[in-house]
Amino acid sequence: MKIEFSSPLSNVENIIDSLKNKEGSLLPILHAIQKEVGYIAPQAIERIAIKLKQTPAEIHGVISFYHQFRTSPPAKYKIQICRAEACQSRGSRQLEVHAKSFLNIDYHQMTSDKKFSLDSVYCLGNCATGPNIRINDDLYGRISNEKFEQVLSNVDRELK
Ligand code: FES
Repeated sequence: MKIEFSSPLSNVENIIDSLKNKEGSLLPILHAIQKEVGYIAPQAIERIAIKLKQTPAEIHGVISFYHQFRTSPPAKYKIQICRAEACQSRGSRQLEVHAKSFLNIDYHQMTSDKKFSLDSVYCLGNCATGPNIRINDDLYGRISNEKFEQVLSNVDRELK
């Protein structure tokens, strides 16, 4: 996944052009742009609005309705905590409380240094080893409060 919105206005144009004539094209366009660029920049919103003959405010309205869409670059490490039943029965609720406190953020937020963001997810397909978290594409199981801090510390060390 590319993080920076460097050249990609042409990529964004191509995405919009390839999807704009499909019924209900806005959500697929938003998903595709976020997948390609990492977020939906103001310039992209302008281009979508023009090509779909809507106002930027209308596009913003849809983006803000869905938590998964971002209008700014994502955190370096995206943490997701599984909230589905098996992980809940193994302590994910307590882990959520600890994670929010440890990072000093709530769900759908990122730390002030932009290293970590926190979101929930419903089942990572690894139920037997709950509570589970995913950091970017990596799964971590049997996450106690202590192990959460340890995993983040290891990830943070890799950042330096
Ligand atoms: S319930 Fe958490 S991985 Fe399935």
